[in-house]
Amino acid sequence: MSDAWERIARNGGVVSDLVASRSWTALGSLAGPAFRGFLLQKGKQGPVTEVPVGSTAVFNWEYGHDRKELEKLYRAGVAAQWDAATGLPWETPVDPHDPSRELFVDAASPLCELALYRKLPRREQEKQRQALLSWLLSQFLHGEQGALFAACQVTQSVGWFDGKLYGSTQVMDEGRHCEVFHRYLDEKLEKSYPINDNLYVILDALMTDGRWDVKFLGMQILVEGLALGAFGTLRRSTKEPLLAELLRRVMLDEGRHVHFGVVALKDYYTKELSAGQLAEREDWTYEVAVLLRNRFLAHEFYDEYYAASMTRKAWDDFILGSRYMGSFRTQMFRRLVPNLKKIGLLTDRVRPRYEKLGLLVWENEKAAPELTEADLLAG
Ligand SMILES: [Fe+2]
Ligand SMILES: [Fe+2]
Repeated sequence: MSDAWERIARNGGVVSDLVASRSWTALGSLAGPAFRGFLLQKGKQGPVTEVPVGSTAVFNWEYGHDRKELEKLYRAGVAAQWDAATGLPWETPVDPHDPSRELFVDAASPLCELALYRKLPRREQEKQRQALLSWLLSQFLHGEQGALFAACQVTQSVGWFDGKLYGSTQVMDEGRHCEVFHRYLDEKLEKSYPINDNLYVILDALMTDGRWDVKFLGMQILVEGLALGAFGTLRRSTKEPLLAELLRRVMLDEGRHVHFGVVALKDYYTKELSAGQLAEREDWTYEVAVLLRNRFLAHEFYDEYYAASMTRKAWDDFILGSRYMGSFRTQMFRRLVPNLKKIGLLTDRVRPRYEKLGLLVWENEKAAPELTEADLLAG
């Protein structure tokens, strides 16, 4: 097993970061998922992957409204349903070589900061930007499938009936998100990528963790918060109208999902958990947030286009230092930190760690329940 750990630590980005930071609690909860993701490559072995799930289903036999804020969110979720087949202009032609509708605006893409890329002919550059976009949207699609399952599990685990009703709308939302990302990749880009190992490890960890609130925290606050940041950054980086509209509609749905996570966890974390249990969640959240921030490295794209001309380490340094990644990090934490404060996880105990990374500047921004549609879309 120690050999296996060494291999995981060498090959698995998330785990090597954890080993380096000596975050043993977070490492412990990621051990099984890391073994399956990095060593067994479970997410890349064929058309399906089976993952055992650990959670408790809670029946509520009273059925009445029991949480005003969640009832309101349920009504909003029902009213905001839309049909992917008719709600987007699918007839829009998408051409990666049309300069008036750049798929991934050259100056906004991280590639424009790479000397090797700048030397390429224009058509080849356009092809690579199309491929990078396909990689990014493929990861969104895989993340949406994880969100679909997490929404199902959260719906069965939450005790409040209004939470279950709300959850049923999120299940439909996530199903629709899978539909739109897959259709765009399949019909418009005609290229897609398998799941990235780091993303697989995080999804596997959320599926298998038995603590309902950690599932909530991981999916509704961290992964959905990251998704909002990523969608917003990409939306500002495309001039392709169908993709921009697709991202706009998905972002409005995601805003409700993060809102639900904040409302559901606020009372539990501020009133019900012991100090020890809370400290465990504080540590887990900090470590996973930092890991997520550093893990959109596009290795599958690198393998295809740059593995022959630069080392993986040089590629990672380039991506992490790019302006695109800087803007992505800003968007992600700007949305995340106020939510952590709202649910009681930004305690005096962990504030210095966030301060050291310069993240407390965002603490007084609006949390998910206060955000308007205009705030969400403004990025
Ligand atoms: Fe989604
Ligand atoms: Fe979502």
